[in-house]
Amino acid sequence: MPNILAVYGSPRREGNTALLLNRAVEGARENGADVQEVWLPDLNMSPCLEIYGCKRNGRCVIQDDFQALYDRLLACDGLMLASPIFFYAVSAHTKILMDRCQSLWVKKYWIEKAAVGQGLPKRKGIFISVGATNGKRLFDGALLSMRYFFDPLDMELWKTLLYRGLDFEGDVLKHPDFLEEAYEAGKCLCEAISMRSSK
Ligand SMILES: Cc1cc2nc3c(=O)[nH]c(=O)nc-3n(C[C@H](O)[C@H](O)[C@H](O)COP(=O)(O)O)c2cc1C
Repeated sequence: MPNILAVYGSPRREGNTALLLNRAVEGARENGADVQEVWLPDLNMSPCLEIYGCKRNGRCVIQDDFQALYDRLLACDGLMLASPIFFYAVSAHTKILMDRCQSLWVKKYWIEKAAVGQGLPKRKGIFISVGATNGKRLFDGALLSMRYFFDPLDMELWKTLLYRGLDFEGDVLKHPDFLEEAYEAGKCLCEAISMRSSK
């Protein structure tokens, strides 16, 4: 049974990204995945303090809720991460998680001395995002960050679900097609992971 981690990065519990990720979770569960959900705003997580305690063994030395999340990130077969666009970037909650994963970057490139750009990622993930406006470049910043965040996780950014023009809480409910797409993405992620592990 694939083990998928679903990470909610918006401060709004009933917000647009949360509703979309929730549908993706339902889709993955429908296909038999064991999905663990994590709400970043519920966690006590310091930003990265750039002290590089992680140079010793690739583990962040700040003792807070990131420690358990780090273990979950390493253990999962797939990741579904959702964040709204805030000033053309991810939310602060999401960015804190990403920065704390510098410990994984240190593990991969400084400790294990992996060659940059070599080796196929072993796992797969989905990024879901939403913004209020319709700007062509609305997701450029977040996508660039996401690409570099998935790399030390040894994960392929397998699918992105990006929706413009959604601002108020629940706006996405007016777009059942978006929610259906998220549901299908969750289902397909579970299938893709199962296929890979049965090879
Ligand atoms: C601090 C802040 C910054 C925002 N910056 C942008 C932005 O740069 N571009 C945009 O289109 N929407 C922006 N928005 C709007 C949110 O992306 C939008 O309301 C989205 O639906 C929120 O998703 P959520 O309901 O999952 O929290 C911003 C909202 C906030 C609160």
